[in-house]
Amino acid sequence: MQGTPRQGQGPRPPPVNKWTLLLSSFILTAAWGQMNFTGDQVLRILAKDEKQLSLLRDLESLKPQKVDFWRGPARPSLPVDMRVPFSELDDIKAYLESHGLAYRIMIKNVQVLLDEEREAMAKARRLERSTSSFSYSSYHTLEEIYSWIDNFVTEHSDIVSKIHIGNSFENRSILVLKFSTGGSQRPAIWIDTGIHSREWITHATGIWTAKKIVSEYGKDSILTDMLKAMDIFIELVTNPDGFAFTHSMNRLWRKNKSSRPGVLCIGVDLNRNWNSGFGGNGSNSNPCSETYHGPSPQSEPEVAAIVDFITSHGNFKALISIHSYSQMLMYPYGHSVEPISNQKELYSLAKDAVKALYKVHGIKYIFGSISTTLYVASGVTVDWAYDSGIKYAFTFELRDTGRYGFLLPATQIIPTAQETWVALRTIMEHTLNHPY
Ligand SMILES: *[C@@H]1O[C@H](CO)[C@@H](O)[C@H](O)[C@H]1NC(C)=O
Ligand SMILES: *[C@@H]1O[C@H](CO)[C@@H](O)[C@H](O)[C@H]1NC(C)=O
Ligand SMILES: *[C@@H]1O[C@H](CO)[C@@H](O)[C@H](O)[C@H]1NC(C)=O
Ligand SMILES: *[C@@H]1O[C@H](CO)[C@@H](O)[C@H](O)[C@H]1NC(C)=O
Ligand SMILES: [Zn+2]
Repeated sequence: MQGTPRQGQGPRPPPVNKWTLLLSSFILTAAWGQMNFTGDQVLRILAKDEKQLSLLRDLESLKPQKVDFWRGPARPSLPVDMRVPFSELDDIKAYLESHGLAYRIMIKNVQVLLDEEREAMAKARRLERSTSSFSYSSYHTLEEIYSWIDNFVTEHSDIVSKIHIGNSFENRSILVLKFSTGGSQRPAIWIDTGIHSREWITHATGIWTAKKIVSEYGKDSILTDMLKAMDIFIELVTNPDGFAFTHSMNRLWRKNKSSRPGVLCIGVDLNRNWNSGFGGNGSNSNPCSETYHGPSPQSEPEVAAIVDFITSHGNFKALISIHSYSQMLMYPYGHSVEPISNQKELYSLAKDAVKALYKVHGIKYIFGSISTTLYVASGVTVDWAYDSGIKYAFTFELRDTGRYGFLLPATQIIPTAQETWVALRTIMEHTLNHPY
């Protein structure tokens, strides 16, 4: 189940038999320890104006930890999506109706999608075992991804290596893939996926991208030229504790798993923990909030590991941080609406990247600065990158626009990765051709 299909070489696992079927169905029903989202719905609200938006923001304090914003209140032109637990549905719907907030049901029963996802994973896993191959069109657990990394690095040791950059709060390894054709401290490009653990499409896209880089090297002239001059670093699982938790307990977990004495709620939003505009608007000082920024900048080991690595390397020229969902490509700032000094350059680069992406499968992205496209958000990765001198700093919000949200079916992994690749390649090419 690693690397590329082995086409019959090496030991094959036994064919699927009664025992493995039994075992898989056990794994399937052993979801009992997991949080159950039966009857939970995702509602979409189109707020007409600022007043309606603030009524939605009030919900976070009126119903703390009850409503789970999938797309938070941003601006009237952007829909707000929230997951509402079954037990709160009547209350929340009454609140919306009494304030004249029109809503529609995007996902009627969240658990149905979770069951489908789990079943698809179990099926893919059986196939992977029987063919000893890794399926790029399926979602994987942390153990599966880490074991894929080991095999991938072994198979492509001429160009790929694995770097351990730190340990998570729960002491899991934080790993980075390095793609390099030689040299030392070459100008470099950073890509991270999965800083928000429930955004599974981002890890899957990162894995496909890693594979794409090794298979296109020597074929695709832009990528080849780039790898002759620059290195690429990819952190596939930026929040390993959160990711493990999305598999074992709560598929919809966003934050890390840090806890501190005397604080009831667990986790910091790792994308609010960076040292740029830390603690400002669009982050939350309440540990129970989904956008809790943490006790201090870089308090989280997952963030500190990246900061230390990038800072001590000292030659990163581009940083791309990948999230989902909403179909957006954005650049700094998040914490302020002030335009950055190379705003025009990033605007036109984002425009080109989004245009190239659209040509692949006809998927539309919007683009612009974070604060003007989405909302004001403080302490985010790309603001830190930009303030640290990395002038090509971008963040993606991948598919979709809310039909499935974080529960994007695995059948969309490859198309998503394919279109994202051409956008990434556009940014890489520009970085190569505009050295600084
Ligand atoms: C989740 O809860 C529902 C209703 O309470 C129940 O029917 C279902 O079996 C539960 N599912 C799991 C996987 O525990
Ligand atoms: C954390 O994991 C490392 C291996 O990655 C191990 O050497 C170390 O002892 C662990 N630390 C704790 C506190 O468990
Ligand atoms: C999560 O946040 C806590 C609290 O700030 C922090 O101490 C911990 O190291 C973080 N965990 C990870 C995995 O980053
Ligand atoms: C946060 O927003 C408020 C209201 O829009 C504004 O008055 C304030 O200056 C902002 N704070 C920062 C640090 O930008
Ligand atoms: Zn995210």
